[in-house]
Amino acid sequence: MDFARFKEEVARGFRLDLSSYKENQLKRRLDAYLLRLGLRDYGALWQRITEDRRAYEDFLDYLTINVSEFFRDPEKFRELETIYLPELLKEKQQLKIWSAACANGAEPYSVAIILDELTPGRAHRIEATDIDPYILDKAREGRYPPEAVRHVEPRRLARYFTREGGTYVLSEGVRRRVLFRRHDLLVDPFGQGYDLILCRNVSIYFTREAQDRLNARLAQALAPRGILFIGATEMIFNYQQLGLERLRPCFYRKTAREGVR
Ligand SMILES: C[S@@+](CC[C@H](N)C(=O)[O-])C[C@H]1O[C@@H](n2cnc3c(N)ncnc32)[C@H](O)[C@@H]1O
Repeated sequence: MDFARFKEEVARGFRLDLSSYKENQLKRRLDAYLLRLGLRDYGALWQRITEDRRAYEDFLDYLTINVSEFFRDPEKFRELETIYLPELLKEKQQLKIWSAACANGAEPYSVAIILDELTPGRAHRIEATDIDPYILDKAREGRYPPEAVRHVEPRRLARYFTREGGTYVLSEGVRRRVLFRRHDLLVDPFGQGYDLILCRNVSIYFTREAQDRLNARLAQALAPRGILFIGATEMIFNYQQLGLERLRPCFYRKTAREGVR
């Protein structure tokens, strides 16, 4: 079985759209995986992941790069905290937020911490999704190594975390503010009416076509004047076509005009 056929079989068998990931990057990674497992070709890998659920889980876990940390790109989170969330809160009491491709949960929990400080005691809806169910289990646990909390200010570390040896355990109060669920950005339907969507450091793995499709769907999922927060190395070139205005690097807003169509 060659690489193209393997991708087709995976799409059919697991509803996983590998053809939307950048081909070279994906193939390099999968070739390394074959070597690691001592498998001779993609046919052997296909056989393995279809016969053994654990092997499929391991494959998915290897494929998805789950690196994340609290307040990733601190300057951008500062802008979110001091400019965009206060602006949204002037218009609405309760915000509907989606952290798409949330990995270990550090991203949606960072937003939950900010909102806990900006609007103490007020409930918001913070949804967080990822394709990888194993990283979602980790996210729900809320236990982090020191590298993941390196941008958390000391006062926040003291207030929201407890230490168990070398592990930082997030308070239950913050953990229960975030609703985690599995979701594939390439094939699953999107929700609607989000005031803020964070979709950061995932589209870099997708082909140009998949990126365009994703950006259009994210724009549609925003409420009028909703904010889209993307990764520091990402960019939306056709933002005007999607009914977005560019506020500053990483931040776009859905124009009210597009929202009332
Ligand atoms: C590098 S992490 C980014 C985490 C976080 N957004 C951040 O910026 O720190 C990329 C995440 O995208 C997820 N991912 C990859 N393909 C996906 C897809 N098709 N749908 C949803 N999530 C996906 C991976 O499982 C991984 O957790």
